[in-house]
Amino acid sequence: MHAWIRVRESVVGQAGAEMEDYLPEMRVAKGVRKGRNVYEGYQRGWGIEFGPLREKVRNDPLYAAAMAVSQARTILMEDHRMNLFLLIRFFLPNIERGDIIEFGAYRGGNAIFMAHVAKALDLGIAVHALDTFEGMPETDKAVDAHSKGDFSKVDFDELAGYVKSIGLDNLRLHRGLFADTFEGVRREAGTFSLAHIDCDTYPSVKFSYDTVKPHMVDGGYIVFDDATVSSCIGATEAVEEEVIRRDGLHSEQIFPQWVFRSFRDGRGRE
Ligand SMILES: C[S@@+](CC[C@H](N)C(=O)[O-])C[C@H]1O[C@@H](n2cnc3c(N)ncnc32)[C@H](O)[C@@H]1O
Repeated sequence: MHAWIRVRESVVGQAGAEMEDYLPEMRVAKGVRKGRNVYEGYQRGWGIEFGPLREKVRNDPLYAAAMAVSQARTILMEDHRMNLFLLIRFFLPNIERGDIIEFGAYRGGNAIFMAHVAKALDLGIAVHALDTFEGMPETDKAVDAHSKGDFSKVDFDELAGYVKSIGLDNLRLHRGLFADTFEGVRREAGTFSLAHIDCDTYPSVKFSYDTVKPHMVDGGYIVFDDATVSSCIGATEAVEEEVIRRDGLHSEQIFPQWVFRSFRDGRGRE
């Protein structure tokens, strides 16, 4: 029996009880306020930064198994990966089903990580990894520290072969500019429960958010990986302009990543 089948039996069968035991109890109200769940944001953010979650996640066999197949291929910071792990393990099962999309996959490491976790939990969702797989396109030199051609050291054929060799049949690699591949991805996926936006620059972050937002499930998670990172002020500006000022959203977490929710009834605007 493959490792991920065993995980499903022991984890998903008792997810509610396990979640309470795993995540810290917080002294704030539960429920959605101003378009996000403050309680759950504290659980993940505080739990990783100051609480018990770094250790708990590191010792989680599912996290370790997903790391083993992906770690050498990702530049994602550990806290960020842990946050995505918690979202997929405990929070996606509580909202409508929808695929996971990653804007900016580079060597595919974090997409492999997320696909392994989703498959092990038998969530029945695919992970779509979008990238040129040959480096950054044009950036906005008024605000972006990154330049065209950054992140170009990728061997796409080797990556595709590796994904096949580890049996990750729920991971799809979409090669090309987001603007050229997104429509096909959307047709294949239908809706998304988690969008991981990890593309560093103003034009790419803005495009990713604007195109994916209408296709999120109710309460879906939009995670900006680099908009609070010092090297990506262009990404910060895109979130400030589009997400906060234009759409009026409040964030559910600012650490380790900036996380927003997408509610269909406009609860974000309260
Ligand atoms: C920081 S890297 C992603 C890191 C990756 N998530 C990991 O696990 O290591 C950012 C990636 O975004 C890609 N990218 C940025 N803008 C893009 C666009 N408009 N279309 C396609 N790829 C883009 C770059 O090619 C680069 O590989």
